[in-house]
Amino acid sequence: MKHDKLRRYLRRGTLTQLAVFEAVARHASFTRAAQELHMAQPTVSIQVKKLAELLGVTLFDTQSKRACMTPAGRELYAAVQDVLLKVGELDDRLARLRAPECGRLRIGVSTTAEHLAPKLLARFCDCHRGIAVSLAMLNREQLLQRLAVQQDDLYILSNPPADAPIVMQTLAPNALFFYARADHPLARQRNVDLAAVAAEPLLMREAGSGMRLATERLFRTHNLCLTHYMELGSNEAIKHALAMGLGVALVSQDAMAGGKDLVALDVVGLPLRRWWCLAHPEGASLSPPARAFWDLCKVGASAEAEPAAMLQ
Ligand code: PGA
Repeated sequence: MKHDKLRRYLRRGTLTQLAVFEAVARHASFTRAAQELHMAQPTVSIQVKKLAELLGVTLFDTQSKRACMTPAGRELYAAVQDVLLKVGELDDRLARLRAPECGRLRIGVSTTAEHLAPKLLARFCDCHRGIAVSLAMLNREQLLQRLAVQQDDLYILSNPPADAPIVMQTLAPNALFFYARADHPLARQRNVDLAAVAAEPLLMREAGSGMRLATERLFRTHNLCLTHYMELGSNEAIKHALAMGLGVALVSQDAMAGGKDLVALDVVGLPLRRWWCLAHPEGASLSPPARAFWDLCKVGASAEAEPAAMLQ
């Protein structure tokens, strides 16, 4: 067997005995070694005696008053230096690997991605149980303000501004549809014209939200006026208002989870196809937890043909 030769070194306590021996040899004194190791001197002597018996050699000159090493002791001392150095280096490397297991991961999440973020976190927390996670749910404008001052480690949002100084990776598709209650007259029609949607009472998120921006841009592109709308401060409120038959609304498919009796309208040119992105400010140095989350999302995205596959 490969370790046969090493058997005598692999007993329980050998590493402790080697460390005790090293201290005695370095100080040339049992007393000083005992002080350094916070052990009683007889315990130190016993550990060294057991080690000598185990190795079948004499380690210290018994004639001398000081703890003077024998030739075998000197051989062992040189080897123990190497062993302890290697163990120390190993511990440094493991400490770096352990580092992501503590600390806090702070992610700013766009309100519309509130269903997506926990799906990503479920995988992350499975592998990194020691990390505390905080999610700040905010609309797009608030999120971009926090991003500018690096208030969080990472950000999940859709289509960040092209000129923003950020680094990002795509996470999953984000499809925007017009929704209405299933009994809405437009729900039964195919190839609905956007002008017909614009003629309906519209439900809109607050100014500063990504959904508001997307709706305004869409209407502007088609030279349609946005005059008749009701403003609601959350996707949840929009879902409830849709369910009450109060109108139609442009909403991300991701935000519609659990929306009962609501249907996506078949509007020409829709859905608007976007991407959910994970971003951080350019030049930001990521904390170990943030780096671990970033890498996990990257692996999830590249492991499959579609980035969205990690969310299935
Ligand atoms: P919102 O943002 O949650 O403010 O609507 C969605 C987005 O990031 O575009």
